[in-house]
Amino acid sequence: MVTAIFPGSFDPLTKGHLDIISRAKSCFDRLIVAVGYNSSKKAWFSPLERIQMIEEATPGIEVVSFEGLLVDCAAKHGATVIVKGVRDATDLAYETTQAITNRQMSGIETLYLPTSPHTQHISSSLVRELHRWGADLGDYVPAHVASLIKAKS
Ligand code: PNS
Repeated sequence: MVTAIFPGSFDPLTKGHLDIISRAKSCFDRLIVAVGYNSSKKAWFSPLERIQMIEEATPGIEVVSFEGLLVDCAAKHGATVIVKGVRDATDLAYETTQAITNRQMSGIETLYLPTSPHTQHISSSLVRELHRWGADLGDYVPAHVASLIKAKS
């Protein structure tokens, strides 16, 4: 029984995240989505709001939040694999540093999934930028997240 953990800030959840979640789900016996937050940093959505937006989009998937080290969250929930979506060479370089550090700290392995071509350009920061200038977010986030974003403005 292999439990994998898919961590991220999810601020907000995007269609890119959903692509990775649905593909990772079929690779492992159990998948946990973990919302990482830093209470001293200003975020757009609270950890609870982010958990709720993920739960609404992914019925049946366990969603948790954590502050601190990802490896501690993984151990707490019995995850032995970290899943990361990789869009491009910049992501790969960043994620490789994280993967080596996480493995050094706890022995946990990280597996990368290349993003699907139609979501490759999507990131939460892109969504925040598009929203700032009033763009339509329908191609980037699920409808209920677009509504939550609208309700915040
Ligand atoms: O969606 P993001 O912002 O790329 O997610 C980043 C996240 C939350 C996965 C990452 O910052 C993280 O793992 N934070 C917890 C601190 C930690 O364990 N860092 C890894 C060791 S360098």
